[in-house]
Amino acid sequence: MDLAQLTRDLEALAADAAGAVAGAPDVAALEAVEVEVLGKKGRLTGVLRGIGALPPEDRPKVGAIANTVRTGIEAAIAARRLVLGESELEARLAAERIDVTTPARPIRRGSHHPSIEAMGEIAEIFGQFGFVTLESPEIEDDRTNFQLLNIPQDHPARDLWDTLYVDLPNRLLRTHTSPGQIHAMRTFEPPIRVLLPGRCYRYEAIDASHASEFFQVEGLMVDEGTTLGDLRGLLDSFAHAMFGAGKRTRFRPGYYPFTEPSVAFDVECLVCGGSGCAVCGRSGWLTILGAGMVHPVVLRDSGLDPERYQGFAFGMGPERIWMLKHRINDLRLFLENDLRFLGQFR
Ligand code: PHE
Repeated sequence: MDLAQLTRDLEALAADAAGAVAGAPDVAALEAVEVEVLGKKGRLTGVLRGIGALPPEDRPKVGAIANTVRTGIEAAIAARRLVLGESELEARLAAERIDVTTPARPIRRGSHHPSIEAMGEIAEIFGQFGFVTLESPEIEDDRTNFQLLNIPQDHPARDLWDTLYVDLPNRLLRTHTSPGQIHAMRTFEPPIRVLLPGRCYRYEAIDASHASEFFQVEGLMVDEGTTLGDLRGLLDSFAHAMFGAGKRTRFRPGYYPFTEPSVAFDVECLVCGGSGCAVCGRSGWLTILGAGMVHPVVLRDSGLDPERYQGFAFGMGPERIWMLKHRINDLRLFLENDLRFLGQFR
């Protein structure tokens, strides 16, 4: 083995490699050529093994030629790879066409729960009359849920609210949103105009019109010179906005310990228009909420002077409002999470 022979071998290798690189039909073949020529066990390594047999002064010369050959082959491979890569991409783009005329699959979008939707509409209507929406706690004490609302311990009126108790001393799940009235009167100076929506709980057997968990929307207004007539006018405006202009309404006497006088507020039956049908129990009227003038004792116990201030309060079930408005015949639909029902309101 001499310098001339090794040099010829390297030149032959360079020529072979150039041909193989140029002739590689695809990236995979090019990579096989790369391994075969430049790999650890490749031809270049094989040729260079002969270096050891050369006289020491010749070795750097072969080394220099080998480097030139290696660099040249590497450059040729890189250039070829670029060309092949591009044409492979083009081939793929041509083969894998996306058919943009295929109809898109429908995207399922969520919607508000009808109870939330109902409360939103109620809040919007009362918002136009200056009522600000607030929230009050779901866990209350006996005092705020009952006593401060003029419902003493052992008072028979407690039968109206079958209570669920929490496993904490003197804590219960509020049976109505009325304790929010107490919080509002103790927090704000009159004039007060608040709307208090929220979840309520009662120990109830569940049927088409009762649930153990439901929403209420409470309203409270306190100011000097507030009258029952103001309440009636406000509720009329609400009924007209919610159920349609011109709907007839009426007050009936009612009873709540925390309002005096207390009323039930009815709207003419939305199904029969007042002539009497199964929905209104042949009466022609539908009761949509309970209300009344805030009892002086409640004002006083909340720190307000009943000689100076008067107030009214009302409480309604948004589910009931929604059932009447949309002719829904079963309250349980609000609790069952059937998307066919839930998706109908927006
Ligand atoms: N809290 C009463 C109920 O749960 C409703 C109500 C609220 C009545 C405010 C009058 C005034 O039935």
